[in-house]
Amino acid sequence: MISFVLASASVVWYIILWSIGLIGCLAARKRYRLRPRSPLASAAANTVPGVTILRPLKGLDHNLYENLESTFMQEYPNFEVFFCVEDERDQALTIVRDLMAKYPSVNARIAIRDGEPVGVNPKINNLITAYRQASHDILWVLDSNVMADRGTLARAVDILEPPSTATPLRRRIGVVHHVPFAWVTKPSLGSCIEEAFLNTNHAKMYIAINTVAVDSCVVGKSCLYRKSDMERVNGSLRPIANAEQGGFQPGERGLKMFGRFLAEDNMIAGSLWHELGLRHDISCDVAKNAVGDMSPIDYITRRIRWIRVRKRMVLAATLAEPFTESMFVGVLTSLGLRYLLGLSPWFFLPVHFLAWVLVDMDVYTSMAGHPVPADKRWMFVVSWALRELLALPVWTMAMLGSEVEWRGKRYRVMKNGEVERVASMASGLLGWFRKRKDFYEPLDISD
Ligand SMILES: *[C@@H]1O[C@H](CO)[C@@H](O)[C@H](O)[C@H]1NC(C)=O
Repeated sequence: MISFVLASASVVWYIILWSIGLIGCLAARKRYRLRPRSPLASAAANTVPGVTILRPLKGLDHNLYENLESTFMQEYPNFEVFFCVEDERDQALTIVRDLMAKYPSVNARIAIRDGEPVGVNPKINNLITAYRQASHDILWVLDSNVMADRGTLARAVDILEPPSTATPLRRRIGVVHHVPFAWVTKPSLGSCIEEAFLNTNHAKMYIAINTVAVDSCVVGKSCLYRKSDMERVNGSLRPIANAEQGGFQPGERGLKMFGRFLAEDNMIAGSLWHELGLRHDISCDVAKNAVGDMSPIDYITRRIRWIRVRKRMVLAATLAEPFTESMFVGVLTSLGLRYLLGLSPWFFLPVHFLAWVLVDMDVYTSMAGHPVPADKRWMFVVSWALRELLALPVWTMAMLGSEVEWRGKRYRVMKNGEVERVASMASGLLGWFRKRKDFYEPLDISD
């Protein structure tokens, strides 16, 4: 009896999971294969809402020049840019100054943090000065390792502030975000695995969850939201009773309240969703994430960090994660089908993996605008298979601890995703193997 129930459950879950995957795949096709130009791109400056772009910087990031240049090249008539650093000696500023000289017509400024840090999160500390000085209500926070197509801003504002002729939504859009799309510039095993992960399984699930929109799910590589909304929330995720009439949380509010979290992006999006009852949307652009040289250990460490932070914020979803992975689910379902129908795993598993990788490659094609190039296809499939194999061991290691390393510093993740610094020490076996080099996270030049 128990075997029958378990076997049936595995098959039913398999069907549900495939439905979620296909929702992601079809939504990706619909969303990314056509990217029309927004009329805002060539409108008069006084007819479009102004936008303040915030680019937090630290050190010479991989591909930094092109990433930052993409901000200057946005086709949008009314925006200003802040390049946010902690220290006026930051190496990134040489590139910023070159670009400011090259594009004198763009309203760009450097914001150096003044005053005390507002929390442990270096990105929030970095942003806070420019956030206070922003002259527009719409903010676009774009990480230093991200590049955006010229039309990205106009298309995002189209969604955040739909034209008054559009049918009004039941719930206003409070966040427009972009799905990260890895873009490998220095191929190495680790960066190819990262690419195979972000551009397939990660994107597929991210798009599916955001299509079904049961809860907030945002990776903040590239996010637009309103400062006036941020100034009403405090990161507690508690609904504000009169939110629709402009209500706000008592006490302290605003961006500084998110300095206590490591995954501030997810908490900001979650607060706008839960405290104000707003909704999110993704536009038809991707956040092109330049990935430099990464070793497999870099990839693993990074994934462990994500999962350790995630499990303190959404425990149930994190516990369920193995049940969304092709290896684990494939093996369970093959056992279930053998028990129920006598189907041989030797027949089921090859069909399962083939169908899975084809769907994943279709997601890649939608987002990239072209299929995986022929000369890279084998490397891509090998990286994809390694990613699938690594999923369960990585998840297990992540569940067994709660300390993470971020930009050369160690943190302990506590309830709700809040973090505290812990004394630096030998960072375990993985840290010992890990090569210190310039992969796609900002170099920590202070240590
Ligand atoms: C945020 O506001 C809620 C009331 O809705 C309050 O209970 C909570 O303590 C506040 N959180 C912080 C961190 O101030």
